[in-house]
Amino acid sequence: MPQSPTKLLRGRTVSFLRRPMGAGDEEALEAHEDGGLLIENGLITAAGDFAAVAAKAPEGTPVTDHRPHLILPGFIDTHLHFPQAQVIASWADQLLDWLNDYTFPAEQRFADKAHGARIARTFYDTLIAHGTTTAVAYCSSHPNSVEAYFEEAERRGMRMLGGKTMMDRNAPAALCDTAQSAYDDSRALLEKWHGRGRALYVITPRFAITSTPEQLEAAGTLLREFPDCHLQTHINENLNEISYTLELYPQDADYLAIYERYGLLSRKTLLGHCIHMNDRELAVMRETGSVAVFCPTSNLFLGSGLFDKARLDSAGVRTAIATDIGGGTSYSMLRTLDEGYKVLQLQRQRLHPYETFYWATRGNAESLSLADRIGTLEPGTEADIIILNPAATPEMALRAETARSLADELFILQTLGDDRAVVETYVAGVGMKGGAS
Ligand code: GUN
Ligand code: ZN
Repeated sequence: MPQSPTKLLRGRTVSFLRRPMGAGDEEALEAHEDGGLLIENGLITAAGDFAAVAAKAPEGTPVTDHRPHLILPGFIDTHLHFPQAQVIASWADQLLDWLNDYTFPAEQRFADKAHGARIARTFYDTLIAHGTTTAVAYCSSHPNSVEAYFEEAERRGMRMLGGKTMMDRNAPAALCDTAQSAYDDSRALLEKWHGRGRALYVITPRFAITSTPEQLEAAGTLLREFPDCHLQTHINENLNEISYTLELYPQDADYLAIYERYGLLSRKTLLGHCIHMNDRELAVMRETGSVAVFCPTSNLFLGSGLFDKARLDSAGVRTAIATDIGGGTSYSMLRTLDEGYKVLQLQRQRLHPYETFYWATRGNAESLSLADRIGTLEPGTEADIIILNPAATPEMALRAETARSLADELFILQTLGDDRAVVETYVAGVGMKGGAS
């Protein structure tokens, strides 16, 4: 893992203190036009106005001056699929056909450790290029893919979450484990990787269609044995998926009841999609603190439906936002926020840029119960930081000439930005993109 020497960053710092309540909630953020961050041993140790931060730095600490660019916490992607890097952009029908025609064939290749290692290199390069410093991934059902995923993250010093996909039916034999082998393999991987460096293991039953009742039972057992781990799965993404699921689990009144019965719901549960939810399911999500993960580019690409954030908010359900590569079509959290904004616009729900940038940083960290470590620029947290240029391209620069506020600049980044707007990505204080000047 790269070591980070003590350094000072200078630029326009932006970090959220709490969730913004609607438009222009300036109290929700801490922003400094001439801001500074002191970084020591991979942590942010001081933040605020540059002069005050510089006064706390040891004599001779080098300064990297990023002005006039913005300094934000690194983006957090709460749901994506590592073995789908070669599935993205596949011309498919909706979810179940897409899985059978493209996804399951591609995932089979991850039995081969060398294949996983090769994909991991580009996968992490791409995350860093787009300013994503933490992600929560499904690996394939092969333990080798989990090894490749965490080994590459460890090499780069990244805080990454992920786990072996558990799936024991309704998929090609080459992808299927069993309830017992999924338990054994997940447990061995968890014991090896959870809490090793910055890695965190996530118990990962794919969804009810590809898990027998016995396997969901095994996932629940694992979660009870390791309550510190997250659990991730999919729910209520697509109407055909829902009817097939209810055929497979006829004793359950709705989709969430299945996961509920096996004890899979807690504040550490991440439920991908949550588009077609009934009121009972929302009440259970609120009671258990489970997180609904919005994947806008995927929901549009697969024609799955419109995530109703206002309904989830008013039901008191926690939410996160994610790319869902490779059902999703961009690694960029900026592109993801833009598409999410449009999905909500279609439903007359208009998020302010403070709300969207909060979501992709502190909000996602809170949804992972990790805001004490990532997602802000607060002293004591890990120095995962991005430098964003709201005038990165000629068309952004032209538009930025007329920006009147920080919110305008953030909205330009969200609407027009992508990896070209990410000048530098610091992982635990180390510049990974070579953009520090
Ligand atoms: N549901 C079960 N598996 C998947 C997957 O890989 N992608 C998406 N979008 N939905 C799923
Ligand atoms: Zn997914």
